[in-house]
Amino acid sequence: MLMVRKLSKSFNKGTDNEISIFNDFDLDIEKNKCTAIIGPNGCGKSTLLNIISGTISLDKGKIILNGEEISSLKEESRAIHLGRVHQNPSMGVSPSLTILENMSLADKKGENFSLRRLIKKGNMDKYISLLKDLDLGLENKLNTKVKFLSGGQRQSLSLVMAAMKYPNLLLLDEHTAALDPKTSNVVMKKTKELIEKYEITTIMVSHNMKDAIEYSDRVIMLDRGQIILDKPSIQLTEEKLIQIYREKLVQNVA
Ligand SMILES: Nc1ncnc2c1ncn2[C@@H]1O[C@H](COP(=O)(O)OP(=O)(O)O)[C@@H](O)[C@H]1O
Ligand SMILES: [Mg+2]
Repeated sequence: MLMVRKLSKSFNKGTDNEISIFNDFDLDIEKNKCTAIIGPNGCGKSTLLNIISGTISLDKGKIILNGEEISSLKEESRAIHLGRVHQNPSMGVSPSLTILENMSLADKKGENFSLRRLIKKGNMDKYISLLKDLDLGLENKLNTKVKFLSGGQRQSLSLVMAAMKYPNLLLLDEHTAALDPKTSNVVMKKTKELIEKYEITTIMVSHNMKDAIEYSDRVIMLDRGQIILDKPSIQLTEEKLIQIYREKLVQNVA
């Protein structure tokens, strides 16, 4: 469903700080599966998501989504097909707008609209039912400004907003990294429920090996822009993953 072909990307080309992130990189993502991507800091995980979403351009290669090459499309044109949740809880939402306004904006993604005519009464039921699924009582706070919500509530709201238009692909970039462990678990569970309920193909970058195994169908480990492990989650344990991680990284340093 998503194919990355012969992707090459460097930053600061032609300068002393030139850094090659990907070189002829290939990746296939299966439909209706959650693929976790793990790997050390700076190995290119966010860069990959940024290239898929068009936030940054690629040097060479192709990104193909459902048979359509999207690499040359602008970020706005790709956004219709993609949902995204960032690491920072204030990035996916507008803090000074209410929950209802945020959801209405997400609902109107890809359409022209005026803010005054934004909130249609008929859509309220849909928003309330989406929020009820989260079990956080947000359906009773529709007119609360998002800046008054906790990080976990914001990330959950971002998640629903990213998923509500049934994106072809959902991109999660360490979306629970800024949360405390308990809240992170709640948001991860909700994430799994939501992507299973709506059958959304997902790439989940994770900093947490346990989460990567528990909440995905497949785990890919990246190191310096290369896939060094690619296995069904069911064949992995946290211990095994940590062991592989250590071995591979030591090998690469040696
Ligand atoms: N826009 C950018 N300009 C220059 N360097 C960048 C940019 N984005 C990322 N990098 C560099 O690319 C490398 C990979 O970054 P990133 O993809 O964010 O890693 P991570 O796997 O931690 O998400 C890092 O060395 C980072 O400093
Ligand atoms: Mg990152």
